[in-house]
Amino acid sequence: MEERRAHWGSSLGFVLAATGSAIGLGNLWKFPFITWENQGGAFVLVYLACIASVGLPIMMAEILIGRKAQRSVVGALREAVGPGWAVVGWWGVLCGFILLSYYTVIAGWSLFYFTQTLEWSLSGFPGGLATGDLFAEQVSNGRLQLGLSLLFSVATILVVYLGIHRGIERLTRTVLPILFVILLLLLFSALRMEGSGEAIAFIFRPSFGELEPQGVLEALGHSFFTLSLGMGAMITYGSYVSRTQSIVKMSAVIVLLDTVIALVATVIMFSVIFSVAGMEEQVGASTVGMLFISLPELFFTEVPFGTWLGPLFYVLVALAALTSTISLLEVVASYFIDQHGITRHKSTLISGSTVFVFTILAALSFGAVPGLSGFEIFAGKPGWFSTADHFVSNWMLPTGGLAITIGVGWFMSREATKGELVDGNEPGWFRYGVWRFFIRFVAPAAVGAVIVAVLFFGFDFS
Ligand code: TRP
Repeated sequence: MEERRAHWGSSLGFVLAATGSAIGLGNLWKFPFITWENQGGAFVLVYLACIASVGLPIMMAEILIGRKAQRSVVGALREAVGPGWAVVGWWGVLCGFILLSYYTVIAGWSLFYFTQTLEWSLSGFPGGLATGDLFAEQVSNGRLQLGLSLLFSVATILVVYLGIHRGIERLTRTVLPILFVILLLLLFSALRMEGSGEAIAFIFRPSFGELEPQGVLEALGHSFFTLSLGMGAMITYGSYVSRTQSIVKMSAVIVLLDTVIALVATVIMFSVIFSVAGMEEQVGASTVGMLFISLPELFFTEVPFGTWLGPLFYVLVALAALTSTISLLEVVASYFIDQHGITRHKSTLISGSTVFVFTILAALSFGAVPGLSGFEIFAGKPGWFSTADHFVSNWMLPTGGLAITIGVGWFMSREATKGELVDGNEPGWFRYGVWRFFIRFVAPAAVGAVIVAVLFFGFDFS
């Protein structure tokens, strides 16, 4: 080691960076939608059970690998688990690469809606505008899409280029408090709407008759996605954690914050939707509908103080996405830094621009270029974007997650994992034996069930 490895300035610095990675489009876009599709209530309860029994133990496992090895994902798995486990690390780097390439496109949309809503705030919402048509126009406008995702990629590259302290930690420390404040403002406004009671009942009152078996698996798959697990993002961030910080405490806070934010975002969106007659049918029509078609208009027609909350909301989406994309790029960039001895600046520029080449393909796959929009490997999922998302969500994250639980649970010694988790700083409620049981048996069984479901029952999480 020619140079001392950078470390987060404090536990709070790490917690905010990791929470920033976890909170993203998964919380604001995917979770509300799948909660809607699965009739709320029972689904939310099952999701919470998955977060606690699979998500939390794997979160601790990933951070533990990173902190122990003090290397990025490939080197960390090799060092902490065993030589052959580098393969799982490469799988993770590839996964980060692909996920980043298309995540950036949706993140770009939030920039578009920020400028749109800001314009409406200043000059009024154009009467008679069909927001569905506006959405269709913007996604199929190739130049616009390229511009938006380029802008977003440049922002991501810049933060990672500046490094752990000056880039990632400084950004997440500034952004997350802002994000919490914006969400609180939105929550207050949403709770004043007449539909809020119905929304809360929909989300929190379980009726098990309505939950399909597929919903259980979807809840499990999403718990990986939303916590940034299964591809080494938390291993990488964990490698900058110093030994005086408790993995157990920090994991618990990250998981709790991610979950609370997902629920708050859902309460906000559903309160708006339930307050408008006829909106429920419209929302069901498409995955992107809720965030980018229904909401933009509703801010200007229904939501109290919506004229200025609207643009603020899309700033929130963009910032939440940015704190996730930087963690994805960090996985790829730090791999080249640690394993191939390239400087951070060079590595970030090269990996960032290589990813962008693939972002171009995803950005043009919403109608701008017919060959990309119709691109199909998996039946029923046309488009470069959907194909990539399908591959990552259904195959890469679950298999990566399974490998990590097996590696930590079965191939690392009891002493090694215990030494990381029980280090004198752990909270009083923590029982090492319980964690070990979950990581060896419960988590692999649950993730295994997801993979079997995808393999043999044609289940689709994306
Ligand atoms: N957790 C992010 C979200 O909810 C998405 C995500 C999945 C992710 N895996 C990741 C982000 C790995 C960073 C790293 O939107």
